[in-house]
Amino acid sequence: MTNTPANEYVQSIIKGFEIDSDLLKKLTSKYIESMDNGLSHSSGGKSHLPMIPTFITKLPNGTEKTDILACDLGGTSFRCLYIKLKGNSKFTTEMKKWEIPSDYLAEEGADLPENAFFDYLANKIVSFVQYHNSNDENKDLLSTKKNFNLGFTFSYPVEQTALNAGNLIRWTKGFEIKSVVGKDIVELLQKSIDNKLNSVDPEKYPFTISCVALCNDTTGTLLSGAYTSTYDSQDIVDPIMSIICGTGFNIAYMEDLASCTKLTEEQVSTIKTKDVTEMCINTESGSFDNELSVLPVTQYDKIVDEESTNPGYHLFEKRISGMFLGEILRLVIVDLIQKEFLLEPKPSKKQYTHKFSLKTEVLSHVEIDDSKDLKQTELYLIESLGLRTTTEQRHYLQQITRAISRRSAYLVSVAISAIIIKSGRLDPKSSKYKYHQELEVCCDGSVVQYYPGYKSMIRHGLSLGSLGHEGERRVHISMALDGSGLGAGLAALTASK
Ligand code: BGC
Repeated sequence: MTNTPANEYVQSIIKGFEIDSDLLKKLTSKYIESMDNGLSHSSGGKSHLPMIPTFITKLPNGTEKTDILACDLGGTSFRCLYIKLKGNSKFTTEMKKWEIPSDYLAEEGADLPENAFFDYLANKIVSFVQYHNSNDENKDLLSTKKNFNLGFTFSYPVEQTALNAGNLIRWTKGFEIKSVVGKDIVELLQKSIDNKLNSVDPEKYPFTISCVALCNDTTGTLLSGAYTSTYDSQDIVDPIMSIICGTGFNIAYMEDLASCTKLTEEQVSTIKTKDVTEMCINTESGSFDNELSVLPVTQYDKIVDEESTNPGYHLFEKRISGMFLGEILRLVIVDLIQKEFLLEPKPSKKQYTHKFSLKTEVLSHVEIDDSKDLKQTELYLIESLGLRTTTEQRHYLQQITRAISRRSAYLVSVAISAIIIKSGRLDPKSSKYKYHQELEVCCDGSVVQYYPGYKSMIRHGLSLGSLGHEGERRVHISMALDGSGLGAGLAALTASK
């Protein structure tokens, strides 16, 4: 590349996204400290990770055999599932999915009353169960109303107080319904379900539904990874953590109960009666270093945060997840246009000025474009932003794209390293250490699944950072099978044990 002002400016942008080995190690130490503090402090606040106890104290082993009902609220869709566990790590599902109407999302839904959204979800759940129940061959044999236990995956930060209770700390990703913040999510859903079931002739619905488990998608992914990986497996043991890296980002893992010092005595005594030693923790990893004491900050990160629905929070997620990677690149492009290093599109083609108009999927095409003169990139930029570019400019944008995605994957590697180190898996003196044990990390989400080279970049970050090459080679990154759907069902199952 020639040493032009444009090239110099681009290189300075790329530098801003770089994370070297020292910074990886510093971030990992800070992450461990933040986990420790989160285990002893309440889940709100900015100075530590939320580290939310989930009240899931045992992972399934694949031999579970039963039918279960589950529902899953994702970033833009809602699903109901009827799951048949076969008892051999296999399962089948009957599923229905709805896109969430925009009335409930972002600013449009901000001022809705607390029941509005849950009434919408309850309608879907009841109609799904009714449909399923009407096809149930055994229904005529039932003299009393059949009860369906429901597991609910709700992928937002919730201060859980029991397996089936928890108050919403804040919305992340696309929702903003203010009246729900601070309220018990299970109570709201159960109320809406009961109202729906009782609103008509009691004969119409010959069943009841009880929401017995609330579950984050990462918790669900850990449960589903444990159910599907065990049976028949030769060398892979239960996953030690689960990661979601899609629209949002988060991690769950099993922690020693004795380390969860923020649990109240009463909570511990009820759990202890079941003879358990561990609990699954929803780390709410997206909230790491909200104080920005170690996390690198670019001018683009600042704008992403300011324009988000939760400024000042989930700053780690805003550097990692699919919801934000495209927006970071769009803001770089806006800057390059303002500096006149890129040509401003015609007034009729101003998509580039629209927030979140550049999807992370476009970055995944630019990342691996090896066509002559980056023709593919040219087409994607015209189509998504109305932006016309020269070959040289496209090379600049490809380098920047790669810097943004590499930073994202390296930051994920920080969280993985921290959890592995903290849990003593690589420390021969720890009881968790097992000779030659592979450390399975179970993942779900569009970025980790589809972004080209993402898993390799995570591995690179692991070996460059605190795990070093020896630690990195023991990590096995696998994909979960419908973590949030199957997982919610498995969570409901733990309630009935
Ligand atoms: C939420 C988490 C969730 C993650 C992945 C984040 O924005 O706060 O609860 O697990 O997205 O869906």
